[in-house]
Amino acid sequence: MARFNEHFSELKESYLFSEVAKRVSAFQEKHPDRSVIRLGIGDVTLPLSQTVVQAMHSAADEMGRAESFRGYGPEQGYDFLREAVAGHYRTFGVYLDIDEIFVSDGAKSDTGNITDLFSADNTVLIPDPVYPVYVDTNTMNGRRIVFTDGTAENNFLPMPDRSVHADIIYICSPNNPTGACYNREQLRKWVDYALENDAVILFDSAYECFISNSSLPHSIYEIEGAKECAVEFCSLSKTAGFTGTRCGYTVVPKDIKTVSSDGREMSLNKMWNRRQCTKFNGVPYIVQRAAAAVFSEEGMKEARDMIAHYMVNAGIIAETMKELGIRFTGGIDSPYIWFECPGGMNSWEFFDFMLEKAGVVGTPGAGFGRNGDNWFRLTAFNSKENTEEAMRRFRELF
Ligand code: MLT
Repeated sequence: MARFNEHFSELKESYLFSEVAKRVSAFQEKHPDRSVIRLGIGDVTLPLSQTVVQAMHSAADEMGRAESFRGYGPEQGYDFLREAVAGHYRTFGVYLDIDEIFVSDGAKSDTGNITDLFSADNTVLIPDPVYPVYVDTNTMNGRRIVFTDGTAENNFLPMPDRSVHADIIYICSPNNPTGACYNREQLRKWVDYALENDAVILFDSAYECFISNSSLPHSIYEIEGAKECAVEFCSLSKTAGFTGTRCGYTVVPKDIKTVSSDGREMSLNKMWNRRQCTKFNGVPYIVQRAAAAVFSEEGMKEARDMIAHYMVNAGIIAETMKELGIRFTGGIDSPYIWFECPGGMNSWEFFDFMLEKAGVVGTPGAGFGRNGDNWFRLTAFNSKENTEEAMRRFRELF
C-alpha cells in the first residue's frame, strides 16, 4: 500500500475557511429562516468592472476564430500581461525585467508552490497571526517553523530578532488578518536581517492596493537590497474582484541566489521557471486579457472605485469598534478589521456567539495562529447595507 506523507497528520483537521464554511452551513440548515451576513472569508462581492468584462468578451471572441485562437500559452504568462504588471510596479518606482514576473492563478497557490524550491531542512520564520497557508504548506513539507509574535504591544508588526536564525521568512503586508502594514524603516530592517542571514523573504503583497497612506511601501522592492533577497506575491483577487476569476503574479528577481548543501549556487528565478514549466500550464488567455485590462487607465480607475466602496465599509466597522471601546487594528490600509473578542471569549466561542445571536459570520483569530486566540477578523467585502446591518446587530449585543 502506498505510504502517505506523514506530515499531513500534523495539520489541523481542516483548512480554516473550510471549517468556517462548514459551521455556517450547519447553522443555516438548522435555522433556514435566519438572515446571515458574511464578513468571514475575504471574498469580494462587487462584480468585475466594465473594462475587465469587455476585455474578457473580446478575448473569448478571439478564441472562437481560427485566425486568433490560442492553445497552450507560455507557462510564465503572456508578455502583454507581464509588461502591464511591470508598468504597475513602475508606479511605485520599482523597475523589473519582464522575465522576473510570472503570471499565476493567485497568491495562495504560489505562496504554497514556492516551497518546492527550498530544501526541507531550512528553518522558516512565520509571523503569528498570519494567513494560514504559509504554516500549512511548510508543515506539509516537514520544515522547521519558528514563529515571530504579532501582538497588540507591537501593533501586530513583529520585528526581526537577531538571536534567531531563519532561512526563509514570510511577511504579509498589509497583513492578513490584522490589517497592520509595515513602513519603509521596518521593512528595511527585515531586508537587512534577511541579507545578514542569507535568507529569502517571501513577501505577500496581496493587499497592497488597499494602502491609503502614501508613505507606506506597496512593494518590498521599494527597499534597497530587496531584489537580492525577496520574492513577492500579488494577486488581482482583492485589487479587481478576481477571487473567482483567478489571476495573480509572482516576482522572482534574477539576483536572488540559493545554495546547495555542497555549496553550489542556483538562481531562484531559473528554478521557479523550471518548476512552473513542469507543473503549470499557465492562466487562461481570456483571464490574462482581463487581468491586463485591470492595469489600463480605465481599469485602474474602476478598481480604485471598488476599493473605495469596500473602504467605506471598513470605516463603518472601525467606527463601531471605536464607539464600543473595543481594541482593534486595520481598516485603514486594509479591508480587514481585527479586534479583541469582547467579554473575555476566545475566538471560536465568539464566532459561535456572533453567529447564534447576530447572524454575523467573521473569522476566529485562532485560525491565524495562537496570538489570535482572543481576536476576531471582520472583512469589508460586503455591501454597505449589509455592513451597516451587521454593525447594528453587533451594537445590540454590547
Ligand atoms: C482570507 O479571507 O483570508 C482570504 O480571502 C483567503 C485567501 O485569499 O485565500
